[in-house]
Amino acid sequence: MYTSRITGLGYFVPENIVTNEDLSKLMDTNDEWIQERTGIKERRWIEEGSNETSASMGVKASKIAIERAGLSKDDIDFIVFATLSPDMYFPGCGVQIQEMLDMQTVGALDVRNQCSGFIYALSVADQFIKTGMYKNILVIGSEYHSGGLDVTTRGRGVSVIFGDGAGAAVLSRSEDSSRGILSTHLHSEGKHARELTVESPSIAHWVPELLNNPDDISYFPYMNGTFVFKNAVVRFSEVIMEGLQANNLSVDEIDMLIPHQANLRISQFVQKKFKLRDDQVYNNIQKYGNTTAASIIIALSEAWEEGKVKEGDLVVLAAFGSGFTWASAVIRW
Ligand SMILES: CC(C)(COP(=O)(O)OP(=O)(O)OC[C@H]1O[C@@H](n2cnc3c(N)ncnc32)[C@H](O)[C@@H]1OP(=O)(O)O)[C@@H](O)C(=O)NCCC(=O)NCCS
Repeated sequence: MYTSRITGLGYFVPENIVTNEDLSKLMDTNDEWIQERTGIKERRWIEEGSNETSASMGVKASKIAIERAGLSKDDIDFIVFATLSPDMYFPGCGVQIQEMLDMQTVGALDVRNQCSGFIYALSVADQFIKTGMYKNILVIGSEYHSGGLDVTTRGRGVSVIFGDGAGAAVLSRSEDSSRGILSTHLHSEGKHARELTVESPSIAHWVPELLNNPDDISYFPYMNGTFVFKNAVVRFSEVIMEGLQANNLSVDEIDMLIPHQANLRISQFVQKKFKLRDDQVYNNIQKYGNTTAASIIIALSEAWEEGKVKEGDLVVLAAFGSGFTWASAVIRW
C-alpha cells in the first residue's frame, strides 16, 4: 500500500469584494448583524458580466497547484471535482477541467457533497493512490454561489453567508507511510436533506413547473439555519475525535485545525470545546464567506502560503454541510 501526500496547493478568488455594507444596499441587513452571527466581513462575488464559472476558477487554482507540485498537466492521471454549483446540469466540471487544461484523456469524477465535498473528494483520491491505481490526482473544490442567491430581503438569511472561489490540491503517491493522509472519515444523514437544499430544477421539479408558478422559489437555497448550526457543532466535534482516535492521537497534538468555513461561531465553538489556541485553528471566513466545497482547500492553501502549515505538522480538516454530510481528514504534513 502506498500513502498519498499533498504536493501542491493553489487557490483563486474573484477580485470583486462585496462588503456587508454593499449587501445592505440590496436588502434589509447590516454589518453588525452579519458579523455578530457569522463573523463575515466581506466575500468575493464574481463580477456581473464576467465569464468566470466554477470550472474556470477551478482551472486557475489547478494551474497553481500543479506548478507547485513540480508537475505538468500531463503528469495528472485523474481529476476529482467537488462543487454544488456546476457550470452545467451535466456533464460535471471535472471533464471541463480536462478540456480547459488540455490534459490527456484521464478520468474525471464529480463529487456532490456540498460543504463536505472537498474532504469527500480528497478521500476518493486517497483511496485511488493507496491502492496504486493512480500516481498524481488533481482534487478541486470550486463554487460560483453568487449567481444563484436570492439577494433580496427574502433571501437574506442565506445570501449574506456565501461567497465564490476555488482551491485545488495535487495528491501524489508516496512510499513514506509516516507522512501524508493518515485517515479520512465520511458520514451522511439523508433524513435532513431538506434542511439545507436547492430543490429545483430537478427531474422531479422541472423548469416549466417553475415558470408556471412565480411563487415557487425552490431554485434558491433554503437553509434552516438554527437546525444546521446545532447539528454542525455536534458533528464537527464527533468527526474530529473519530479521526484522532483512529490514529491514536489526541487533541493537544493538533498543529492546525482547518474547519470548513461555515460560520465563525461554529469554528469558535469547536475551538473552545477542544481548548485549542488561536494559532491551532485557521479561519478566513471573515474575508471570503462560506465557499462550500472550496472553503477548506482555500483555507489550507492560504495557511500553507503563510507558513502556518509546515513539514511534520499534524493537520486536521473537518467539514459539515448539506445532506447532511460530514467528514474529517487527518494529515501528517
Ligand atoms: C444563518 C444564521 C447566521 C442565522 O442566525 P440566527 O441567530 O439563527 O438567526 P435567525 O435565522 O433565527 O434569525 C433571527 C432574525 O434575524 C433576521 N435575519 C435573518 N437574516 C438576516 C440578515 N442577513 N440581516 C438581518 N437580519 C436577518 C431574521 O429574519 C430573524 O428576524 P425575526 O426574529 O424578526 O424573525 C445561523 O443560524 C447560522 O449560522 N446557522 C448555520 C449556518 C451554516 O453554517 N450554514 C452552512 C452550513 S455548511
